[in-house]
Amino acid sequence: MPTPLIAGDPLIAAAREAATRAHVPYSRFRVGAALEGPFGVICGCNVENASYGMTICAERTAIVSAVAAGHKSFTRIAISLPDSPPGLPPTAYMPCGACRQVLAEFVGPDFPVNIDGVGVFRFAELFPYPFVLPDERASG
Ligand code: THU
Repeated sequence: MPTPLIAGDPLIAAAREAATRAHVPYSRFRVGAALEGPFGVICGCNVENASYGMTICAERTAIVSAVAAGHKSFTRIAISLPDSPPGLPPTAYMPCGACRQVLAEFVGPDFPVNIDGVGVFRFAELFPYPFVLPDERASG
């Protein structure tokens, strides 16, 4: 279960603002993510495409933007889905499986995931068994 909401968390405010920049002509469903680290905060929004499968989620936009800017060490993420109205089950606000696997590349089990309107989860609660390559092929 998530811990209670942190009222006024500025990272949530950043995620909400990022959602306003979403490119969503097809679903009209905006998502924002704000990734915090020693560098500060890097945000992402979902970016849809006429070839639907090319759509990239807000969380992955934030992660790839941070990595492209030279950052791979993260302390927290906040996610906001303003087009899920209040009162829906938590599943209406949760990050998708692809984004969880991509987050797993860079964060550990205790990494806090603050979901707007739901609460703060440990990453391991959301994604207990990520895929990890069985040997150390990756070095960078
Ligand atoms: N979406 C995200 O940006 N993040 C998620 O974790 C779930 C889904 C986006 C993708 C698409 O643009 C829209 O929400 C509807 O699926």
